[in-house]
Amino acid sequence: MQVLGIDIGGSGIKGAIVDTQSGELISERLRLETPQPATPEAVAGTVAELVTRLEWQGSIGCGFPAIIRHGVAFSAANIDAGWIGVDVETLLKEATGCPVRVVNDADAAGIAEMRYGGGVGQLRSVLILTLGTGIGSALFRQGQLFPNLELGFLPYKGAPIEHYAAAAVRKQEKLSWKAWSKRLNRFLQMSERLLSPDLIIIGGGVSRKSEKFISYLEARAEVIPAQLLNQAGIVGAASFAAESVEKG
Ligand code: BGC
Repeated sequence: MQVLGIDIGGSGIKGAIVDTQSGELISERLRLETPQPATPEAVAGTVAELVTRLEWQGSIGCGFPAIIRHGVAFSAANIDAGWIGVDVETLLKEATGCPVRVVNDADAAGIAEMRYGGGVGQLRSVLILTLGTGIGSALFRQGQLFPNLELGFLPYKGAPIEHYAAAAVRKQEKLSWKAWSKRLNRFLQMSERLLSPDLIIIGGGVSRKSEKFISYLEARAEVIPAQLLNQAGIVGAASFAAESVEKG
């Protein structure tokens, strides 16, 4: 089926029409700036603009950077605090006039990697990490998602570890790839102690540059870069929506 996949991020709102059978984009990938402040009303307006520009009428799947339970946002670590408690699905449905399903952005990226990328056929425990402004995490076992895992919230030096090891921190603090990898290793070590995954897939924008850091990573699990790179959020959100339409 064809679904419009949208990935809402702190700096950009990206979307493309996805063939959920193949996981491929079948339209151009459009990116609009996330409005600042990124209030629910402003973001909903940008999402509506994206839908209009892609001339889309149909199901929409949307990845959102917060805990999402039954379409409602329950956290706001790297987004406007006004999102907490908002029924994101209803808000975007009203703004676009289309049926909308919303999923945590890292869960979306994980769904894409498991269905179309490095996790295909994996029944072992697979941890997908998205490294960007924050740290997103998604855990699969026997191919099933355990939703809303928030490893980026793990406390480290009195703050969530995403403030120490996210990809954005490397740039903000002008760290070398090696120095940042050391921080990432600290995070991997904590995650492994809790979950003992067999495979770790590193996604997010930084996965495009995996050759710069992957050899520095130390983990008991096998560690590979994401195959869908930063398209994973769009593709996974579309796939999530297609599945719920098929289930009825
Ligand atoms: C949020 C997660 C999100 C991650 C990546 C974190 O700050 O708490 O829900 O998946 O950023 O965007």
